[in-house]
Amino acid sequence: MKKIITYGTFDLFHKGHYNILKRAKEYGDYLIVGVTGENYDIGRGKLSVHDTLATRIENVKNTGLVDEIIVEEYLGQKIGDIIKYDIDAFVIGDDWVGKFDHLSRYCNMVYLERTKGISSTQLREETFENYDIGIITDEIDDNELVKEAKLVNGFQVKNVFSDDKKILDAFQERYNVENEFENLNEMIEQSDIVYIHCAIEKRFNYIRKVLNAGKHVIYDSPATFKSNELEELINLAKEKNVILMENIKMVHIYVFNQLLWMTQGGLIGDILSFNCSISKDDENRSNLFYDLSALTLLPMLKIMGQDYENADFKVTKEGDEIEFASMNFVYPNGRAVINVGNVVRVDNQLEIIGTKGTIRMRGNWWRSKNFSLHKPGEVDAELYNTNFEGNGFKYLIKAMSTMLKNNRIESMGVFEDESIKIVEILEKVKNTQN
Ligand code: CTP
Repeated sequence: MKKIITYGTFDLFHKGHYNILKRAKEYGDYLIVGVTGENYDIGRGKLSVHDTLATRIENVKNTGLVDEIIVEEYLGQKIGDIIKYDIDAFVIGDDWVGKFDHLSRYCNMVYLERTKGISSTQLREETFENYDIGIITDEIDDNELVKEAKLVNGFQVKNVFSDDKKILDAFQERYNVENEFENLNEMIEQSDIVYIHCAIEKRFNYIRKVLNAGKHVIYDSPATFKSNELEELINLAKEKNVILMENIKMVHIYVFNQLLWMTQGGLIGDILSFNCSISKDDENRSNLFYDLSALTLLPMLKIMGQDYENADFKVTKEGDEIEFASMNFVYPNGRAVINVGNVVRVDNQLEIIGTKGTIRMRGNWWRSKNFSLHKPGEVDAELYNTNFEGNGFKYLIKAMSTMLKNNRIESMGVFEDESIKIVEILEKVKNTQN
């Protein structure tokens, strides 16, 4: 019996998919199809897939051509599958010519001509709603949004506004955004979502203006230094039925959710200590102190909770600029220490100590792809990881896409009370004297 295997995502099942399965089946006696799993696709940055894994499997099955369906869950699985299922030939469309030649040591490699004029990508573009993103910026840097948004189905950065014409022109030249605006209202009018990417002092007014126009907002965090202003924005977003999304990407990254699951679910026992440091890694950016602090406070609030008994801040200032701050929080059963360096340099790291294990993230932990878990009595650490390229913005956009699809305006990445608490703490830090 000649056994054939082929792989694909088979999103929005179409004629091209049917044709390749039919020809693959004709090539042998028994056809196995590997359908890509959701995590595998997400890990390789394919965020645009529309159908669920169950639907994609069902569609492949309904062709009546397939003898067995398996799920492709990780990079490198194909070799193991060929051996396990004793495959004679690996069949794939000729868009992959040459890419799988290394498999010819294990079985025959067959590239079949692709059906012309159709693809899942094309169908997704034709079928689904498009969201035009506008950026309000005061720097010639897009925080990678332009590139990252393109990776999510239906999203693209189309518009840019800056109140500084020089920045506007330079931004446009660098990122080739379709429309640049000197008039803010026009820009908001033309956009479905607006990303607020500017100095903290200006964020509140911009956000309020965009929300008032009934458009969705992504904003660099924190929105403001005043919790009552943030509450006003949250209420306004609800009233206008639009999304107000805080740009903290880590909560949308798979590995961070694993970390939360372990700490919140008691898998490392009772948490005794949360220790975290961060300093700016980009010398060119202006005062980032509060942006960095928001990043560190969020995991603390999620892991240790909001009911600390006492907070103590040590702040080093040069004029109004905070160069370094150490924030200490006393919880009923543990402590949190957060060190943020702005001018002063500290090593980036995150460490959570529980009664049954310690979790560590090294380097730029807020966009980390992995963490290690050290259990008492065990020599080797367990490693948890996920792969992604870029800065993770696409996962935030993907989360937004899901919210839009489900008509949900409240994010479950950063909860409202967490956003408000972060602003409350930052306001206190801001008012702390040297
Ligand atoms: N395929 C084909 N003809 C097409 C489209 C796909 O023969 N017009 C084949 C691919 O070469 C592959 C299989 O179908 O062997 C599954 O492809 P998949 O990547 O799931 O479909 P695409 O339409 O190419 O999806 P996308 O646009 O997301 O890349």
